[in-house]
Amino acid sequence: PPVQVSKICCIGAGYVGGPTCAVIAFKCPHISVTIVDLNQARIDAWNSSDFKLPIYEPGLVDVVKHARGRNLFFSTDVDKAIQEADLIFVSVNTPTKKSGVGAGFAADLNYVELATRRIAAVAHSSKIVVEKSTVPCRTAESMRTILEANSRPGCRFDILSNPEFLAEGTAIEDLLAPDRVLIGSLQTPDGLNACESLANVYANWVPKERVLTVGLWSSELSKLAANAMLAQRISSINALSAICEATGANIDEVAHAIGFDSRIGPKFLRASVGFGGSCFQKDILNLVYLSESLHLPQVAAYWRQVVEMNEYQKSRFSKTVVDTLFNTITGKHIAVLGFAFKADTGDTRESPAISLVRDFLSERAYVTIYDPQVEEAQIWLDLSEACPLVPLETIKKQVTIASSALDACKNMEAVVIATEWKEFREINWDSVYKNMNKPAFVFDGRMLVDADALRAIGFKVKVIGRGE
Ligand code: NAD
Ligand code: UGA
Repeated sequence: PPVQVSKICCIGAGYVGGPTCAVIAFKCPHISVTIVDLNQARIDAWNSSDFKLPIYEPGLVDVVKHARGRNLFFSTDVDKAIQEADLIFVSVNTPTKKSGVGAGFAADLNYVELATRRIAAVAHSSKIVVEKSTVPCRTAESMRTILEANSRPGCRFDILSNPEFLAEGTAIEDLLAPDRVLIGSLQTPDGLNACESLANVYANWVPKERVLTVGLWSSELSKLAANAMLAQRISSINALSAICEATGANIDEVAHAIGFDSRIGPKFLRASVGFGGSCFQKDILNLVYLSESLHLPQVAAYWRQVVEMNEYQKSRFSKTVVDTLFNTITGKHIAVLGFAFKADTGDTRESPAISLVRDFLSERAYVTIYDPQVEEAQIWLDLSEACPLVPLETIKKQVTIASSALDACKNMEAVVIATEWKEFREINWDSVYKNMNKPAFVFDGRMLVDADALRAIGFKVKVIGRGE
């Protein structure tokens, strides 16, 4: 029969493991949930008395306040949490490999493998092991081989795939009312029992018809497929935005018109300066690598183009800024509003703002950055990584970090909107205009401003996807 899960361990206290398992604890007071990580600072922040959590996510603090100390625990004692749990989520990072075979494309599975080996090494009893991390198709098979080859007698391991579909900025909403929960298992009696054990955990708050159960490989591939299709929609709308700018069509109107077709649907059609975030690019490259390994070069080329279009969109936007500022920005002052990869998160991984600032710096412009959530230290780290040949002191001579949008725009020639923070919709553009050098330019990479109102003030305005 399926195991009645009473203790859960989650390995990895990051953007996924933290919120996901905090919500499980919140919704299942009868289950004890321990989230573990090797990173002491991260665990300390999760445990901090003033709830200064390591990630910013609307609603997360309330969930953690409710459950922490009751049935939700954060710890660096990985072994103990593994030993006590009936069910273990593996929610570690799976970044793109930087070197070796598949560098630049394949997922680095080292962290998944180390966590798996740890489970095998310390477990005294049988466990359900759940892949939460996004992994290439058939990773569960490697995990099973490692677990079976290293387990103690009497220990059984059942592997499930349970990919996570939350988006940052809306993680808590997404977790409380998911479109679907996907569970993949082997279609054997043991596999199906394990699947039911996990489905019963979600049944505490997710309607039954939203819990989809499929085979292991379909589950793994569905996660890559969902991200690839979402990113493809953005690259498609961004490709059309270039046509709009060249023809005088308006991408907002085009998106609205095509989104009315119920087969296309209105969501996720916002043209932008390019998509960012830790996963879209990584997961598509992963799919490209998978396709190539399976000797499907046409399939690989098809998906690769989604990432290439995104690179093009980012560089096209930088070029518009340079072209419009009379073909040179050397020595000019540019405010960049927003550094996070999207609103309502402090996360900057693959943020298009990083590419923009890098491009502006290589043209020797001066840049002032403001973001309401991103820590200053993170900005310096990202810029150092983006400009590996430039010493940080040199970067710091060209870049200033401001503490408000208004401050950032003072004495600038141009303002670039890189993230769609709500507060940027409420900027007092009259005061911004007074304090800027003239002619004053606004480049809106997020379709956020009322271009006509700004032009009436005196600004020269360029909005992504809109011809003059
Ligand atoms: P993250 O880097 O924020 O968190 C991963 C954590 O795992 C880190 O804190 C790291 O210290 C810890 N870790 C690594 N190896 C460990 C080990 N052996 N033992 C204990 N802890 C270990 O990453 P994330 O954004 O949470 O992503 C995790 C996975 O979820 C990735 O595969 C990602 O593709 C996937 N995913 C992410 C999102 C998202 O929105 N960020 C959404 C869906 C899926
Ligand atoms: C995305 C997916 O939406 C999640 O379902 C998935 O779980 C997650 O990746 C993951 O696997 O990591 P996330 O990256 O957090 O979530 O955020 P999104 O809302 O998808 O935004 C990604 C990027 O696309 C952002 O830079 C955003 O600004 C951009 N975007 C999004 C657009 O440019 N236009 C849109 O219409 C939507």
